Amino acid sequence: MKYSKITGTGSYLPEKILTNADLEKIVDTTSEWIVSRTGIEERRIAGDNEFTCDLAEAAARNAISAANINAKDIDLIIVATTTPDRIFPSTACLLQERLGIHGCAAFDVQAVCTGFVYGMGIAEKFIRTGSAKRALIVGAETLSRIIDWRDRSTCVLFGDGAGAVILEASDSEGIISSHLHADGKYKELLTVPVGVSSGHEKLKQTEAYIQMQGNEVFRVAVNTLGRIVDETLAANNMKKSDITWLVPHQANIRIINATAKKLGISTDHVVVTVNKHGNTSAASIPLAFDEAVRDGRIKRGDTVMMEAFGGGFTWGSVLLKY
Ligand code: ACO
Repeated sequence: MKYSKITGTGSYLPEKILTNADLEKIVDTTSEWIVSRTGIEERRIAGDNEFTCDLAEAAARNAISAANINAKDIDLIIVATTTPDRIFPSTACLLQERLGIHGCAAFDVQAVCTGFVYGMGIAEKFIRTGSAKRALIVGAETLSRIIDWRDRSTCVLFGDGAGAVILEASDSEGIISSHLHADGKYKELLTVPVGVSSGHEKLKQTEAYIQMQGNEVFRVAVNTLGRIVDETLAANNMKKSDITWLVPHQANIRIINATAKKLGISTDHVVVTVNKHGNTSAASIPLAFDEAVRDGRIKRGDTVMMEAFGGGFTWGSVLLKY
């Protein structure tokens, strides 16, 4: 079996909705500003006792049920997250235990907003080389925990959520190609500048929040995503018109529209959830993909391009036949 095919999708959003009107009461902003600059109307926020692994588990269970498989048959678990429950064990190991699976490889991928695309690219290679037959790939985030709720330039942008897919070895075409990139020279433009080895003591203070130079991130994101679209098509000798659906990382409607324009794809073939979810980082693509699969927009046989850009900078794409 030389292909890997998505056989099930799932997602989960926390109950609590934070609207732009709510944010108007927290920081000096207006709903009009947020919608016109980002397209975001509302976002979900995890409950006080709800953690990334809880979101990941709910999304994973949905995907397992959609794929109609037994969780015990999963032989690879990848969780893409920037907001793990613990420094270690990985959220993937915590999730593995919740799902009652023992022994298979399980690890987290940290590529910020590109994490799910990285996870798909890695899982596809495990399957293609015969190292795995049935992979669970999850993107899950509680970004609300690393947001400075006094900083209007960032707190309006992000939300919490999780999405998941089951990727299985198959004789019929699935993932066509994946393209993963990074350039650490942009590390200061989008960062939480403390960690474990460096600045661990600051984790108890106020500095452990997202810091971003929004203008610069925007400019590099638009240019880079344009290039990844070209790279993906050229690698497969395909034309723009061969793409049925674009499922982009949901950061900002203006970035999404710029990439759609570059691809020459009409906006009704672009899955957009940023208005309701905000930017959920690694969770945004599987959340959007699951929504469009479940409401019947994305159908078996459709050619789908996923693309993402995020902190690092990291960026990448996955082209697949659903
Ligand atoms: N409400 C009202 N005013 C605001 C707000 C707010 N929430 N935030 C910033 N402003 C003000 C600024 O203070 C500034 O005021 P000034 O001119 O008096 O200094 C003004 O609005 C313009 O600020 P800019 O940063 O230039 O606004 P811009 O049009 O660039 O929009 C935004 C900002 C939405 C952050 C945009 O740069 C962006 O989307 N960048 C991409 C960032 C992103 O998506 N990051 C997520 C991670 S990376 C990824 O996922 C792709």
